[in-house]
Amino acid sequence: MILGGVAIVDEFHPVCPDDGVRLERRRNETGDQAVYCPGCARSFSTANGTGDLLDLAPSESQADGILGPENAVVYRDLVSETVEQAHARGDAASPWGDPRSSQSGWIAKREHHALWALERLEGDDLAQLTVCDVSGGAGYVTFALASRAKRVVHCDLSAQSIIYVRRRAQELGLSNIYFCRADYLRFPFKHAFDRVVCFDTLVRGWEHERRAIQQISEAVAPGGFALIDLHNWWHNPVRRIGLLPNNFVGNRSYRRREIPSLMLQAGVRQYSVEPYYPETKSGGSPSGILGGLLQPTRFSLRFDSRPV
Ligand SMILES: C[S@@+](CC[C@H](N)C(=O)[O-])C[C@H]1O[C@@H](n2cnc3c(N)ncnc32)[C@H](O)[C@@H]1O
Ligand SMILES: [Zn+2]
Repeated sequence: MILGGVAIVDEFHPVCPDDGVRLERRRNETGDQAVYCPGCARSFSTANGTGDLLDLAPSESQADGILGPENAVVYRDLVSETVEQAHARGDAASPWGDPRSSQSGWIAKREHHALWALERLEGDDLAQLTVCDVSGGAGYVTFALASRAKRVVHCDLSAQSIIYVRRRAQELGLSNIYFCRADYLRFPFKHAFDRVVCFDTLVRGWEHERRAIQQISEAVAPGGFALIDLHNWWHNPVRRIGLLPNNFVGNRSYRRREIPSLMLQAGVRQYSVEPYYPETKSGGSPSGILGGLLQPTRFSLRFDSRPV
């Protein structure tokens, strides 16, 4: 049994991504449960009444003027495909990072990162907690969490991500995952989750990251915390001297010293930073001479809930 999309309304009290008004559930003319905004009268799709996922994407693009040309195209494609359209693709629905079309070494890196993140989330009693992955992609983190957390809320603006991960969850017999299409630039959850994570996503530019981090900090319930990462890809000297291919074109790489200003502008005053090295199995600094030279490719940031 997959958790119902309308149950998301009861459990996490989402707001309308267009006007911020608290959503309600109602019965529609055919007697089915529907999700509805009393502010703008918009109805939200629960995938043709199947009721097991919820589409809370905003009705308009939120990224105008803040993305470079390549990223704007990717964003527009994500916005334009509905959950119903992705559902109609059947098996061809394929999210970013789809393991069916990825190399095993690359998949192993993502799985290591998911376990590394899990260790950082496990401090308290994870089995009692709800974790939201705001840009869950192919679900590497969602699936790692599902066996340990009480509940996982898998979000992504990509309808194909939602459809793919939902189908995989069914195949794996996982029954504690909610599925919600959502845009982190207008995230529909406020103070809703014990833990919020967002990995390998905040690379699109300063204003994009600033808005997303602000929204993420507002999604954390009082007493909870968020874990995100920023990339230091291009500032890593080993890459800059051309020893590795630059597969980061069009994306934003952050220096350690830029982080305070970004976080302050996003409204997050207190946070901690931990380096993450995807190059090693442990995520820690490589040993030997290389270890001394290599900067971390990612910075992992942890911050608490914003005051309500
Ligand atoms: C590089 S992937 C990372 C996926 C996953 N976090 C991981 O580490 O494997 C970035 C993900 O962000 C999603 N995404 C991009 N823009 C988004 C937005 N505005 N709101 C929500 N998700 C978005 C993409 O669809 C994609 O699944
Ligand atoms: Zn509304």
